[in-house]
Amino acid sequence: MRLSKRGLGAEESATLAISGKAKAMKAQGRDVVNFGVGEPDFDTPEHIREAAKYAIDHGYTRYTPAAGTLELKKAICAELSRDRNLEYTPEEIVVSNGAKHSIFNAMMALLDPGEEIILPTPCWVSYPEMARMCGGVPVFVEGSEENGFRAKIADIEAAVTPHTKCILINNPNNPTGAMYTREELEELAEVAKRHDIYIISDEIYDKLVYDGRRVVSIASLSEDARARTIVINGASKTYAMTGWRIGWAAAPKDCAKVMANIQSQATSNPNSVAQYAVAAALTGPDDEIREMAAEFEKRRNRMVELLNQSEDITARKPEGAFYVFANIKKLMGKTIDGEIITDSMAFAHLLLEKEGVAVVPGVAFGAEGYIRLSYALGMPCIEKGVSRLMDFAQRAK
Ligand SMILES: Cc1ncc(COP(=O)(O)O)c(C=O)c1O
Repeated sequence: MRLSKRGLGAEESATLAISGKAKAMKAQGRDVVNFGVGEPDFDTPEHIREAAKYAIDHGYTRYTPAAGTLELKKAICAELSRDRNLEYTPEEIVVSNGAKHSIFNAMMALLDPGEEIILPTPCWVSYPEMARMCGGVPVFVEGSEENGFRAKIADIEAAVTPHTKCILINNPNNPTGAMYTREELEELAEVAKRHDIYIISDEIYDKLVYDGRRVVSIASLSEDARARTIVINGASKTYAMTGWRIGWAAAPKDCAKVMANIQSQATSNPNSVAQYAVAAALTGPDDEIREMAAEFEKRRNRMVELLNQSEDITARKPEGAFYVFANIKKLMGKTIDGEIITDSMAFAHLLLEKEGVAVVPGVAFGAEGYIRLSYALGMPCIEKGVSRLMDFAQRAK
């Protein structure tokens, strides 16, 4: 078929090859520890599941308004006010099929062909591809490990050109778990104001932060910042609801209207039953959520402690999310059973083949010399997987 340039330009995820291989190995009976997962291993809390059953039995099974039910939008507004110090009205909320869809809507609403979007790296694999699908041009700004994997605000400002339309920040970050400080966000908001550019703030991991931290939303820092920011969040990570597909965007009314129009023509409303369940999640008890976060914190501590016992691998303690971004630069160029570890992709393939451990290569996030390990796995699996990783590192000569 003669397919579109846009369609052909969408790259297959760099991580698919690894996860496909891991699945095939598992199917052949191999014991694989999968650190590649991007979702909580907990079940959706019971009161949320019960709400969904109620919704099915009580007729919440029809089309809803395209941008989401009023009930859910009100629950989102209440949550933004309570937890993020952000005041929005329901007309400023667009509920979508996951935060991924919300980010896509945001880029569709902001980017004209050829306009630039600044993406601090390491960044989530989908941002650059989505930006390109929307006709935008990703411009990468490196957040070095020495700077806690956060891009320097001065470097972001230096990347601004007359074509820059927006900046996307992910706080806390996937894959590094890094969090921007309040001061950095204030500086970034000033940069955005000075150059009249917009901000997409992906805060999907905002409830999974550790050591008593709290996320500050850049939109809460000033009236001007609020007016130029699209805040993204969703139920997937916080409430262990990845399969339910509910995310949302909060943005000034004119922008929310455009995103809602785009969505109404593309997909109509997100699933009605899932919307009902997420409203219950946002308004219900949060003890299970806090327990999950506490468990993630314990796992993070253990994983980082174990990884740092290796001579060749180092791991910075992430502030949030559920990933460790480990430095494997000392192993680059070494050989294992005669095969050279040329880069993070080769490392991931060899580690999977030799030790049955799946990780995501850093190159997928725009950072060579690293691997991402998820700690959304039980403690015994974490210990087993890291021990195999250490054996692998020791064998490399
Ligand atoms: C940084 C980031 N943003 C957004 C998402 C999308 O989440 P969902 O579409 O499940 O709401 C993910 C999922 O992995 C993510 O890591």
